[in-house]
Amino acid sequence: MTNAKKAAAIKALDYIRDGQIIGVGTGSTTAYFIEALSAYKHRIEGVVASSVATAKALKALGLPLMELNDVNKIDLYIDGADEINDRLEMIKGGGGALTREKILATASAQFICIADPSKQVKLLGRFPIAVEVIPMARSFVARALVKWGAFPEYRVGFVTDNGNVIIDCYQVDCSDPLAVETAFKALPGVVDCGMFAKRKADVWLSGA
Ligand code: 5RP
Repeated sequence: MTNAKKAAAIKALDYIRDGQIIGVGTGSTTAYFIEALSAYKHRIEGVVASSVATAKALKALGLPLMELNDVNKIDLYIDGADEINDRLEMIKGGGGALTREKILATASAQFICIADPSKQVKLLGRFPIAVEVIPMARSFVARALVKWGAFPEYRVGFVTDNGNVIIDCYQVDCSDPLAVETAFKALPGVVDCGMFAKRKADVWLSGA
């Protein structure tokens, strides 16, 4: 699927207009986009990164890195997904960058998802839903997720860019993605989760 990932990433360049501020996601598909974006560095106003890893990659290529706090808006957000359905709702967060990704996606006028065809599903939920949790609430949140009907698994040894931990939730009934997102986010101690139903993608590029 490497070719499809690369093709989707390159196709995303068509959506960029001169002088725009581009939000940049995290992951292997986005890595192709970052590489391609370096040819546009003198045409865009800036880039805002969804993770420390992405910021490092953008900086290494000399792209004009900006902070979300210093910009009024993001024109375009480009990011991958772990699963995407026909309504362009997604599960993201395989790389653990879901909270910053969701902030940038929500702050952006347009969200272009670059995800190869293997990510397409009829029903979301085979891929676990990552839940970012404040460390002291880890066990409390895990118990609440069990009560909710999920099978939570602590992502051992992983710390997010925000200093939190990740609980991956398996076997979640995702027939109503927005309800899942709302319920998970409502648990005290949860920072955010990898269900992207409220802010879904506007465009999906599969690279096929
Ligand atoms: C990271 C993400 C990624 O977008 C998602 O995991 C897809 O990654 P890849 O492009 O490597 O398949 O949400 O938190």
